[in-house]
Amino acid sequence: MMTNLADKAVYKARRDRLFEKLPEGSVVLLVGNREQVRNKNITYPFRQDHDFYYLTGYAEPDAVAVLRPNCDQPFILFNQPKDEYQEVWFAGRTGQEGAVALYGADAAYDIAELESRLPTLFGERPYVFYSDELGRFNHRIFDWLACQRKSAKFDEVKSFKHLMNVLPRTQNMRRVKDEHEIGLLRKAVEASVSGHRYLMRLCQPGQTEQALTGEFFNHVSQFGCSDVGYPTIMAAGNNACCLHYSENRDVLQNGQMLLVDAGGDYQYYTADITRTYPVNGKFTPEQRDIYQLVLASLDAAIETVKPGVSWNSMYPAAMSVLAQGLLDLDILSGSFDQVMEQALYKPFTLHKTGHWLGLDVHDVGAYHDDNGNWVTLEPNMVFTIEPGLYFPEHSKSVDPRWRGMGVRLEDDILVTPSGYENLSVGAPRSIGDIESLMAK
Ligand code: GLY
Ligand code: MN
Ligand code: MN
Repeated sequence: MMTNLADKAVYKARRDRLFEKLPEGSVVLLVGNREQVRNKNITYPFRQDHDFYYLTGYAEPDAVAVLRPNCDQPFILFNQPKDEYQEVWFAGRTGQEGAVALYGADAAYDIAELESRLPTLFGERPYVFYSDELGRFNHRIFDWLACQRKSAKFDEVKSFKHLMNVLPRTQNMRRVKDEHEIGLLRKAVEASVSGHRYLMRLCQPGQTEQALTGEFFNHVSQFGCSDVGYPTIMAAGNNACCLHYSENRDVLQNGQMLLVDAGGDYQYYTADITRTYPVNGKFTPEQRDIYQLVLASLDAAIETVKPGVSWNSMYPAAMSVLAQGLLDLDILSGSFDQVMEQALYKPFTLHKTGHWLGLDVHDVGAYHDDNGNWVTLEPNMVFTIEPGLYFPEHSKSVDPRWRGMGVRLEDDILVTPSGYENLSVGAPRSIGDIESLMAK
């Protein structure tokens, strides 16, 4: 995947923003991913390290970026060289000239030259920020740090270097999306919303979880998604009570509900959307009760979203609706305050209500600030809200009529200057909209 000329400026702007967060005299060493063997000479589809990709846009294996603020060559890329044999058999390569022309590198070298060139590039800069998630160069880094000190003559400056992880800086940057990222997230969500609508029309008793999983992928592919952002959860009936179920091997039965948690990956950005609906297209009274409750809790949580509110405002908003609903349905007993104080809903709600969304489905970036307080929301943050209720068939603590049912609803929310935009609202969520789409 190539970037285009306009994209070069996007990645440069991110590097410049990172530079503003670094002390004077810094150098950043970012190690990209290598191909991983699946079996024998077959590799898994290549996926670039997300922080590397975020700062360079470069998605070929076996590359290292050296970033040096306040320098006439701030972006140096080491990457694979052009190679006729490799390119005939496996994949085209950008090579060094391409790295400069297409990715805006100020200089590019064959990855084989990394060791010999690095000590000079570090120079006397005392702060080395490092990211090497697969640990490829962990065994070499201290030698490199010592190189300048060991090779300097006794009366020259010897630089002692501090080694630090760059990821806390890049990953907190990634919490607030730039316009380019929001554009890609919109594409991923648009494809996925269409995929969810499509599945609602295909869904019927006798269909298989596996076939519907393939149908979703096929559908989002037509929108330019090259993958899904995480294993699709296609969970009929009781399977929905396993939160990250992805076996997807069962046949859909009349009377069950189907939980579909699926998101397309568009140019490295993923959607994360869940809808739950009756396999036969008509909610039973029990399904209706639970579904309405989860939908009300989702809406209550979404309504809290605006800049300045705490990340932790959504969870209690959702839980208080669920708590009251569980009391109303006699699934819980006691007072509302008691249910809230003792979190008596937890055995049925299981998880929190969301996570950052972006390059990673569970996107990176802290949820607390340096003082341990919850982060406050800012415009251009993107996250999911996804309450659920789960009543496994083996559960003895609820009336049998609720058992074997798991309902989760998940939307992708963009914080705007005045509130929020629900990016995934186009995937039907009201009972009326779902039943009428499924009837078609
Ligand atoms: N699809 C995984 C999640 O919703 O967090
Ligand atoms: Mn999610
Ligand atoms: Mn999900």
